[in-house]
Amino acid sequence: MKSRPAFAAPVLLGLAFMAPARAQSASQVAATPPMGWNSWNYFAEKVDDKGVRAAADEIVASGMKDAGYVYVNIDDTWEGDRDANGVLHSNSKFPDMKALADYVHSRGLKLGIYSSPGPKTCAGYEGSLGHEQQDAQLYASWGIDYLKYDLCSYIPAVMQKEAPNDPAAQMRLMVDAYVKMGNALRASGRPIVFSLCQYGWDAVWEWAPQLGGNLWRTTGDIEPRWDRIYAILSQQEGLEAYAGPGHWNDPDMLEVGNGRLTLAENRSHFSMWSMLAAPLLAGNDLTKMTPEIKNILINRDVIAIDQDPSGKQAARIYSDGEVDVWTRHLSGGALAVAVLNAGSRRYSTHPFHLDLKRLGLHGPQHGKDLWAGTEVTLTDGMPLELATHDIFLVRIPSPK
Ligand code: GLA
Repeated sequence: MKSRPAFAAPVLLGLAFMAPARAQSASQVAATPPMGWNSWNYFAEKVDDKGVRAAADEIVASGMKDAGYVYVNIDDTWEGDRDANGVLHSNSKFPDMKALADYVHSRGLKLGIYSSPGPKTCAGYEGSLGHEQQDAQLYASWGIDYLKYDLCSYIPAVMQKEAPNDPAAQMRLMVDAYVKMGNALRASGRPIVFSLCQYGWDAVWEWAPQLGGNLWRTTGDIEPRWDRIYAILSQQEGLEAYAGPGHWNDPDMLEVGNGRLTLAENRSHFSMWSMLAAPLLAGNDLTKMTPEIKNILINRDVIAIDQDPSGKQAARIYSDGEVDVWTRHLSGGALAVAVLNAGSRRYSTHPFHLDLKRLGLHGPQHGKDLWAGTEVTLTDGMPLELATHDIFLVRIPSPK
């Protein structure tokens, strides 16, 4: 789902769906951006009970759990059929969802699941249309802690069918669908993280928090290619006003360790998602990751940027040639500075000279280089040599 519909700028006709109780539990369940793993980016339709248990085991064994990863999220293709009472059953890949949830919980982790407001999911499995309350109760009875709710077939089956050529009415139908599931989750009595997946349409960041959304996709699907990752990163500019404790922009799950990304690209992807206060949902095969990839995923200094309790998302301050400079304000007055070489050649950016004044900084700044793990002093105009698609990420505890 990559293209946006030709919807006009959204005008919400009142926020009658506002749900204070949900909003309160929202900040309890996602006070910082959710961290964990999701099956889709690597396993897609091959996900099964065994693979989910293996991922949970590996989150514990690899040190990821200690670094803050909690959610083990099953994406699309777990759904089976509904019985005569409308109760949804998992398919043969997941013989006993409750037992799986118990297992994941026994490892000190939480279990996430996936559905669509439409009749079918994106991969063509059973969706929740007309069964929202029933499904939310089912998830709660299994012990589910997180729901990703993916628009998919709701677009043709409901929005386009009921309101052809009327983008405003289509948008209201879409908001209604998310309100309905938000209410159903709240009524289930179990705190369940609510993740909206509708590809960033209709300024979702303006209305998702009020209906209890804890995170919302801001773009179409990520892919393990640098140009896609960089395109998504560039789309996040300006969205920093909408992120905060309990409600986060979601530039999609991590591709760290997937495809042919170089180590520099993996580092930059992970660093920038942390600067963006993005959910950190690993999307690789944890049972086969190299030590280098693991060390990226468990870099605690970088994770601390992502998980900073103030929840302020980074902004791009300036670009010079193909180098982008972003900053993120952290609690206690600290500042994170990221200098990213997006260029595929070195000539326009080598060396790059850091302009501290443009970052509002005056004189030498003492901090820590979060990938080298060493102390560093930033000085005005200092030359930086960055390899293609690599990043310089610094935390300055007391910026001046
Ligand atoms: C959509 C979502 C993906 C994934 C697939 C599953 O494309 O954007 O993240 O959940 O559906 O079918």
